[in-house]
Amino acid sequence: MKILITGANGMLAYAVKNEFKDSELICTDVVELDITNLKNVQNFIKQHKPEYIINCAAYTAVDKAEEQFEVARQVNAIGPKNLAIVANEENITLVHISTDYVFAGDKNINEVYTEEEEKKPVTVYGITKLEGENEIAKNCSKYYIFRTAWLYGNGNNFVRTMIKLGKEKESVNVVCDQYGSPTYAVDLAKTIKEAITQKIPYGIYHTTNEGYITWYEFAQKIFEQANIKCEVKPVTSEEFERPAKRPKNSKLSKEKLKNAGIIMPNYEDALKRYLKEEMK
Ligand SMILES: NC(=O)c1ccc[n+]([C@@H]2O[C@H](COP(=O)([O-])OP(=O)(O)OC[C@H]3O[C@@H](n4cnc5c(N)ncnc54)[C@H](OP(=O)(O)O)[C@@H]3O)[C@@H](O)[C@H]2O)c1
Repeated sequence: MKILITGANGMLAYAVKNEFKDSELICTDVVELDITNLKNVQNFIKQHKPEYIINCAAYTAVDKAEEQFEVARQVNAIGPKNLAIVANEENITLVHISTDYVFAGDKNINEVYTEEEEKKPVTVYGITKLEGENEIAKNCSKYYIFRTAWLYGNGNNFVRTMIKLGKEKESVNVVCDQYGSPTYAVDLAKTIKEAITQKIPYGIYHTTNEGYITWYEFAQKIFEQANIKCEVKPVTSEEFERPAKRPKNSKLSKEKLKNAGIIMPNYEDALKRYLKEEMK
């Protein structure tokens, strides 16, 4: 299997490279392949002829994006469009990663979002990621879009931040009214591999670890599992204002993925494995 991995220095890319280490990999960073440049994308892909493209490139600075619409749009929408055009020309399967931010996140907290639910992004990041999804669906016939959320792995992430703060402080304030599923990059990479090798039907899938909790509860779990004595104090989103509005309900239904034969592990099990890796 010959695979092109774009944005290869990112957090998810690290796990994807490891998961596919037995495949023939072409790993590119922004210098080697800037996905926003169609001519470069065409030349590069026609020269290397991969069977799959796994697009790990993205503009992920959610707050900064509020001030940088065009930069975010180039990477999150035009880049995926370019990859989709060339993937279609060359009969390549495109794997792309999207986000819970394509939804408004204002649904009743007892309900979950299915793949087909109305998309109403309220942030620049979400708007540009949704445009990327739509461009792929429009320009390419062989694609997977895996929507994930609350990702952590080898890179800056919530778990690392909590461990650092927990060791330095007696208490931390964490938001208690946003619900979602923390997702270990390793488990997402495994799911991508399973989807490709099992040849599940093309389309959009929600791919997060199982279980729904708040950031507050997640912080408690992190301290509990990492054996750190630090009090977690609950605060509301309103008390913890950020430039980009966070979705209160990020609960993604995984029924479609399960029906395709893939079950992702529970977040508690994922956290245990991640901490074991981190504490080495
Ligand atoms: N992190 C999360 O919590 C989260 C949640 C939901 C969905 N996702 C999605 O999951 C995917 C992976 O996220 P991640 O956290 O692994 O992202 P990441 O660590 O920010 O990595 C993204 C990579 O893309 C590269 N890049 C930026 N512009 C590029 C361009 N024009 N051409 C080629 N590469 C470019 C970046 O390089 P530089 O660093 O040099 O700019 C970076 O290495 C993204 O699609 C993201 O939207 C992430």
